Amino acid sequence: MKRNKKEWDEFQTYLKEFSRLSEQFIARLDEQNVAKLDVQLPQLSLPEEGNDFSECVELLEKQIIPQLSAARGSRYWAFVTGGATPIATMADWLVSIFDQNVHKAGDSVATLVERQAVDWLLELFDLPKTFSGLMTSGGTACNFLGMCVARQYAGKLQGIDVAKEGVFNLDVEIFSTTPHASTIKALGMSGIGQKSITRIASINNTEKMDVDDLKAKISASHAKAKIVIASAGTVTATDFDDLDKVSDVCELHKAWLHVDGAFGLFERVANGANGKTKGIDRADSITVDCHKWLNVPYDCGTFLTRHLDLLEESFDVPARYLANDSGTADFMSLGVENSRRFRALPVWMNLLAYGKQGIKSWVNNNIQLSKTLADWIEQSEHYELSYPCQMNVILFRINASGLTDEEADIKTIELMNKINTDGRIFISPGQWQGREVIRLCISNWQTDSSDIEIAKKLLTELADSKS
Ligand SMILES: Cc1ncc(COP(=O)(O)O)c(C=O)c1O
Repeated sequence: MKRNKKEWDEFQTYLKEFSRLSEQFIARLDEQNVAKLDVQLPQLSLPEEGNDFSECVELLEKQIIPQLSAARGSRYWAFVTGGATPIATMADWLVSIFDQNVHKAGDSVATLVERQAVDWLLELFDLPKTFSGLMTSGGTACNFLGMCVARQYAGKLQGIDVAKEGVFNLDVEIFSTTPHASTIKALGMSGIGQKSITRIASINNTEKMDVDDLKAKISASHAKAKIVIASAGTVTATDFDDLDKVSDVCELHKAWLHVDGAFGLFERVANGANGKTKGIDRADSITVDCHKWLNVPYDCGTFLTRHLDLLEESFDVPARYLANDSGTADFMSLGVENSRRFRALPVWMNLLAYGKQGIKSWVNNNIQLSKTLADWIEQSEHYELSYPCQMNVILFRINASGLTDEEADIKTIELMNKINTDGRIFISPGQWQGREVIRLCISNWQTDSSDIEIAKKLLTELADSKS
């Protein structure tokens, strides 16, 4: 009791200071440069004796906080960056206070919360209860689990238990059109190998799979097992494979279908089960990122599969002292980590607080705002849209008329650097059809039309200063 009282007194001091720092940080988000491009940290050596709290805070306040990005703010438009709602942020804070190890059932309700959060996500995405899954650290981790469970399936077709015997005798071929870079990494990590991919052609000038080419290549394959990696939202063009048609092919060839819907799965919240993700319910495994469009803090993703038994075979933890007595697979036997953070809590709280309609409204809003800005860029004499805006990603470059492609590439990169140096918005580079483009992606729950006006003003100013 006494010890807890002393601990709590210490917490009180920290809470006050950390609340002050949090308030300051949040208050400045709108005004500060969205990204800090020139950063440095003084060379400090490890203290022999610990410092006072006030000294630690001073260092944090002076050296670290001013050099942080406004990634949670409404104009961080690089990569696919969600913000973090206040309730999800504070729930994440509580995750550290609670400090639960969500490895197996038997010592707290935390495992049930994770199961419920996964069930709620299935409802949010209108996916059948034949799916189940677990929280991961993000899309890459989900794609890795996807490749591991697909690998186990591939082994099963050949009488090999890959988890026990390894991949040495595994004969498997991968088919994909536009896999995310993290999936390529996952192929390496899973031992399948990055070179096992047979590239399927895309439909003209898109990143979308040409299903006829898939049919032809998968039929011609002599591999004993096949895995198809499809996209529900490619990271550059935001294209969606025709998942119903892809599923037909997979079913015919007994191929495993893994769909990367890291952010694209949220299109299903906006447009329902007959939108661009139609057919995803037939996938064997799905990647979705919660730190993207669900707007919970880093790091959090959810891996979904219809084959929990194979996932468990892949990741089972045989240690006796950890014996499973709960009757259902423990989370530690379904993923990479044995010890696991209570990552489900911010997801659970966000879903509880906003409900399906709340999340749908910010997804729709982001899509609408992206289209508005894309239309403006298309009409501008200074810039050109490189690809029609499908959802929440805009690809554009400077108007290339009168310039060679190479000159336009250079000027586009210069423009991107000027935009990021200005600091009102932050965007990332991309490549489209071999040419340099600027890629702008809106996934933050609080981005609104005033942010779009700021972007238009900045783009106008930069165009005027050029001429
Ligand atoms: C389609 C897709 N898959 C996977 C990932 C990787 O996700 P993470 O960065 O959360 O590991 C991303 C990230 O942008 C993505 O867009």
